[in-house]
Amino acid sequence: MSDSQKYNRVAIALHWLLALALLGQLFLGFWMEGVPKEPPGVRAGWFNIHKSIGLILALLIVLRVIWRLMHTPPALPALPAWQKTAANWSHRLLYTCMVLMPLSGFLGSSFTPYPIKFFGTPLPRLWEASADLKELFGAVHTTTGFVMAALVALHIAAAVLHAVRRDGVVQRMSLMGSADVQQG
Ligand code: HEM
Ligand code: HEM
Repeated sequence: MSDSQKYNRVAIALHWLLALALLGQLFLGFWMEGVPKEPPGVRAGWFNIHKSIGLILALLIVLRVIWRLMHTPPALPALPAWQKTAANWSHRLLYTCMVLMPLSGFLGSSFTPYPIKFFGTPLPRLWEASADLKELFGAVHTTTGFVMAALVALHIAAAVLHAVRRDGVVQRMSLMGSADVQQG
């Protein structure tokens, strides 16, 4: 595969770093909901780890979105039109979820009466607590979490199908081989 048919190194590195981290963060988010409230502190400890990791992911996601906006992705190989449309829209939706998840998580947590602790360090309070706004952003976080999990499942299923067909789609995001640094 020629260099210009691949995503560039930064796009590939960010994709795989975030893919692993986001799968872990989605799993942690759903799992921690089942951690019992007794003994006190254990559940809160997992929530704090989730929030701290989420804030680091927010930074990586901002970098990824900026990088993506600055670079045009390589053209897709010859595929049926509906597959190209499905790929475009699912990628757009994945980016939307990637932005909404940390944003809604942060905003929901910022309206509780407790400070957000970043690996133990309390962050300054930005505004007054509000039960209604905590509820609203919490609902956005939960709903987007389910939508994102479904999209990721679809995305992985599509990647596996393309890998089986060897149609050149998966190689574009492969960690192996050289990558073009000019194109996104
Ligand atoms: C990319 C980043 C993130 C992902 C993929 C993610 C994912 C999830 C998922 C799947 C859940 C379980 C569903 C739910 O009950 O809401 C959850 C819960 C939660 N997340 Fe996140 N999250 C992210 C970032 C954050 C951030 C940055 C914060 C806060 C600073 C946060 C705070 C919370 C809280 C407090 C809950 C529990 C919600 C509740 O019990 O009402 N999350 N997260
Ligand atoms: C949370 C997990 C993941 C997220 C959020 C995610 C998100 C994305 C996004 C947004 C793109 C489009 C890139 C762009 O045009 O800028 C993409 C491309 C791609 N992803 Fe993922 N991904 C995830 C996991 C995976 C996994 C596990 C695989 C493989 C099994 C995979 C395989 C691919 C491939 C092959 C492409 C290139 C598609 C193309 O040629 O346009 N992704 N991913």
